[in-house]
Amino acid sequence: MSDSGGKDGEQRPTAGVTLRGTLREAMEAPPTVYEMVGGQRFFDDLVNRFYDAVQGDPILRPMYPKDLRPSRRRLAGFLAQYWGGPSLYSELRGHPRLRMRHMPFTIGWAEREAWMAHMTAALATAEVADDTGNPLPDEIRALIFQHFDNAATHLVNSPD
Ligand code: HEM
Repeated sequence: MSDSGGKDGEQRPTAGVTLRGTLREAMEAPPTVYEMVGGQRFFDDLVNRFYDAVQGDPILRPMYPKDLRPSRRRLAGFLAQYWGGPSLYSELRGHPRLRMRHMPFTIGWAEREAWMAHMTAALATAEVADDTGNPLPDEIRALIFQHFDNAATHLVNSPD
């Protein structure tokens, strides 16, 4: 009697198979933030709430193009990629180089504070986008906030 499977010579599905490379890594890797928050829809919802607020902001609105739809796609794509999702942003735009891409805009502390205020509000009401109604774990919300807070400071290019 062998220990390799059931009757009639049936084998265990993994018998003789050595997992290596990316498959092995994928199976052993801890879940990414992208997976934990429910994937692309989380970032789409977050960014939509953010840009809905930008739309009515007297400091920020004039900096952005008239049609905000491409901006929504770029930011949601960037964030999904940053937090471990597919590299859709880079396929479209190449390397992020965010500091360079923000150089055409005058970003002082007032612009940074306005941007962070809307993003903080958008993040405060964010939920896991998997229809389970599970709340977003506090540590994930804090991690995402910390990234925005650091990146926003890094993007100030005209300190007053
Ligand atoms: C500090 C305040 C900020 C201001 C005033 C600001 C403003 C802008 C403006 C006016 C644009 C051009 C419109 C567009 O292409 O969508 C832009 C693009 C973008 N911003 Fe910001 N931004 C700020 C912070 C951030 C932060 C913290 C992030 C990321 C964590 C970010 C990510 C992006 C991305 C991914 C793009 C699109 C870049 C591209 O592919 O061209 N921004 N931002």
